[in-house]
Amino acid sequence: MLKVGVLAGGGGTNLQAIIDRYEAGGLGEVELSFVLSDKPGAYALERAKKHGIEQIVVDKKALSDRFEEELIKEIDAREPGLLVLAGLMIMIPAELCRKYKNRIINIHPSLIPSFCGRGYYGLRVHEAVLKKGVKVTGATVHFVDEIYDNGPIILQRAVEVKEGDTPEVLQRRVMEEAEWQILPEAVRLIGEGRIAVEDGRTRILPG
Ligand code: GRF
Repeated sequence: MLKVGVLAGGGGTNLQAIIDRYEAGGLGEVELSFVLSDKPGAYALERAKKHGIEQIVVDKKALSDRFEEELIKEIDAREPGLLVLAGLMIMIPAELCRKYKNRIINIHPSLIPSFCGRGYYGLRVHEAVLKKGVKVTGATVHFVDEIYDNGPIILQRAVEVKEGDTPEVLQRRVMEEAEWQILPEAVRLIGEGRIAVEDGRTRILPG
């Protein structure tokens, strides 16, 4: 059984997608163990509470320079097999990246390596997509390393950019058609032991 912790700092719609798939029995050999947020008021915590999942707050603002240490302590204490970043707007400490190498995944709302890296988060990604005029965007699930949006890519899904899209409309479409699909799917594949990493790339092993 793969013990999974979700790290979410915002609204938690990706967390909800994971919970829904979990409760429908669609995540296989996975235990959704805890939800951790760096903000006490994150709605993601409410979602966890509603579904009986442990909620942990490591308050970044209040802890200041003790934040990273506390974050690692809380995570280590629960011995997760997989950490899922779903809207936690922080740079993951290098120590955590090393300790949990190929055991931390992130969802990014574009087709990496486009529109990613430092400064590309939230609506800014979709604003940049519209400004450039690309016709296709999407989302990417990847392993996390010490560089923003850089680790081995696990799953991607393309989404059409439509005439007249606003950043908000496009963000919603990317979430519905891509993020909420491929993030739970990646968790399932990892739970089944079907993601192999070689030379900075992943391979999906047959079921
Ligand atoms: C999503 O757009 C995700 O791609 C990005 O942060 C956002 C989180 O949204 N990493 P939510 O909190 O899951 O609704």
